Amino acid sequence: MHIVKTINDCVFFRNQANGRIGFVPTMGSLHAGHLKLVERSLKICDITIVSIFVNPKQFGTHEDLESYPKNINQDLKLLENLNVDCVFVPKKTEMFSDNHSIDLIENQLSKVLEGNSRPQFFGGVITVVSKLFNIFIPTDVFFGQKDAQQLIIIKKLIKDMSYNINCHSIPTVRDENGLALSSRNDYLNSVWLKIASNIYKSLCLVKMKIDKGEKNVSVLKKIYCASISQFNGLKIDYFSIADLNTLQEIPNVINSKILISTAVIVNKQVRLIDNIECSM
Ligand code: PAJ
Repeated sequence: MHIVKTINDCVFFRNQANGRIGFVPTMGSLHAGHLKLVERSLKICDITIVSIFVNPKQFGTHEDLESYPKNINQDLKLLENLNVDCVFVPKKTEMFSDNHSIDLIENQLSKVLEGNSRPQFFGGVITVVSKLFNIFIPTDVFFGQKDAQQLIIIKKLIKDMSYNINCHSIPTVRDENGLALSSRNDYLNSVWLKIASNIYKSLCLVKMKIDKGEKNVSVLKKIYCASISQFNGLKIDYFSIADLNTLQEIPNVINSKILISTAVIVNKQVRLIDNIECSM
């Protein structure tokens, strides 16, 4: 496995690679969710490249950039065991020099949901992802449905900026209680992880009510809030029932494919997101 630290070395590696080039961008502290993306790439591509970079541009000033979980030695071992071809582990200054002055923005999809709570987030994501796409020129990229809005915006980035890339979406990997795996779960002990699994259970409850015929958004929101409020230490940041294509809130009654999504603060400090898609 090549471990590459500079953009020049990435370009050198890329120029020698042939066939389908799979690319999986990550921020490290890898778990089984990330590895699912990597495994998919290994399965369908000739070459698989993973990047590990905690991207400062997607963190707000009061967010957890400094404390974001890091586990580089274990990450490299996991990727080596899977037979990944190349891992890019740049320093911050390699990606963004002090005089970096060009950033991308997305003007529609990134204003709602996560973008409403974290205004800088998607600009930071698409800036770093587009730079990584330019460095590796992948044929195939792999993103998780766990970050549903990110996935939708990356697909839009590929379309609007005419990248010649296939984007694969990989279903959310969960623990035995249903909690979506996330690097931020590292902040929680086993008791809190169990409590946090009620986020997914509450989303499933809403989906079950929809499947049984309840289409009224305000009724469904009440069901979700009531379910979460049973648990001390879970606080809803947002809960949304939105059109899956436009991400606009459904005002009254559901009659299209929807994304049910939420962000919940666990134990006053750890912000977790999760979602379920639902088709009528
Ligand atoms: P990160 O949170 O490390 O996630 C990297 C990729 O793994 C994303 O595509 C994410 O959706 C996917 N992923 C995370 N948890 C998952 C789970 N439980 N099941 C399936 N897939 C999962 O997302 C980012 O990093 C960054 O925003 C990045 C795209 C790397 C840009 O900095």
